[in-house]
Amino acid sequence: MTCIQCHKFKDHKVLGNGTQLAGQDRPGESNRCENCHKGDLHRDYTLNRHAKTVYCTVCHIPSFAKYQATDMHRDWSKKEYIPEKDKYEPEIEFKKNVRPVYAWWNGKGRLTLLDEPVQVKDGKVLIYEPQGSINDPNSKIYAFKLHRAKLPVDMETRKLIPIKVGIVFKKGNTDAAIRKGAMAFFGKKNIKYEFIETERYMGIFHEVAPKEKALRCVDCHMGGDRLDWKALGYEGDPIRFGGRKL
Ligand code: HEC
Ligand code: HEC
Ligand code: HEC
Ligand code: HEC
Repeated sequence: MTCIQCHKFKDHKVLGNGTQLAGQDRPGESNRCENCHKGDLHRDYTLNRHAKTVYCTVCHIPSFAKYQATDMHRDWSKKEYIPEKDKYEPEIEFKKNVRPVYAWWNGKGRLTLLDEPVQVKDGKVLIYEPQGSINDPNSKIYAFKLHRAKLPVDMETRKLIPIKVGIVFKKGNTDAAIRKGAMAFFGKKNIKYEFIETERYMGIFHEVAPKEKALRCVDCHMGGDRLDWKALGYEGDPIRFGGRKL
């Protein structure tokens, strides 16, 4: 399929926004699997019933970055020279065939903005956190890529400092790139900064696998480890304990 079969254009405005692109070209219209796949899609009624709680992507995208490795962790406190590109980069960990992480999502999320002090939870800052829960009827379980990074934070204001990345790429001088960033965005000289671990959930909607590769009952139930029932708010495997009560 081509991009624009799903991301349809109207007057140069594109359909779809995902979890990361906060702005929407066409608010109120959504780009969903159900736009094309309507009604009861599976012969097995159990699967159709699951779709009320488990979004299509969870079963149909068992792994991502199948053909090309994807950036999973970006450590801006370190740098390395990449001879093939003749430039410096932060230390990046690439992975292939990555299993998504799963979380409730109701379509809304919380972003850490640059003008607010970071909130540290379990030693990390969540840059994008999907909103939703087992008790929210508008939430389903979705597949995400969990991208991590080490980013500089101003030790006085506790705000993230946008790095002037061009300086890192060209000269490998991370310290100067952070100081220039603090000057440009906050007008601050002589800052003290430290690095902090951050995480963001990025919705996974591409790389749908052939139907034979979709997750099977035992990937999730009867000891299957795809879903962490307790973390999602279930008492245990719903085959034994039942599904959510709304
Ligand atoms: C089978 C349908 C489909 C095709 C084909 C498709 N996409 Fe998507 N794409 C989606 C869905 C669904 C989403 C997430 C929901 C939304 O758009 O709001 C998405 C999200 C995105 C996002 C936002 C990601 C984020 O997390 O912010 C981008 C960018 C994107 N697609 C680009 C592309 C490009 C480029 C192509 C072609 C190479 C493409 N898409 C092909 C369905 C599709
Ligand atoms: C709990 C896992 C699960 C969920 C959720 C799920 N599917 Fe499936 N789907 C499967 C499995 C397994 C198959 C292959 C077996 C079959 O065809 O019944 C399949 C098959 C399909 C097929 C091929 C049907 C055919 O007969 O050729 C389509 C299309 C499809 N799913 C779309 C979707 C869409 C769209 C959603 C979300 C609305 C969705 N599925 C949700 C597991 C799931
Ligand atoms: C623009 C319409 C459109 C959208 C949106 C769309 N699909 Fe499809 N999908 C199709 C078409 C058309 C086919 C049949 C393609 C073929 O058989 O070559 C298909 C086939 C499938 C199949 C069966 C593949 C197989 O092995 O036979 C699955 C599973 C599926 N889609 C899941 C999804 C999921 C999950 C999403 C959302 C991320 C989605 N689709 C979004 C049009 C769409
Ligand atoms: C992606 C993981 C996943 C797969 C694959 C999956 N399930 Fe489930 N299953 C769930 C979740 C999540 C719930 C809880 C749904 C809810 O809270 O409404 C559930 C609930 C159930 C329940 C109890 C609640 C109910 O609706 O009856 C049964 C029984 C069940 N699944 C059977 C199956 C069978 C049979 C298959 C294979 C055809 C299957 N599941 C595939 C995730 C999965």
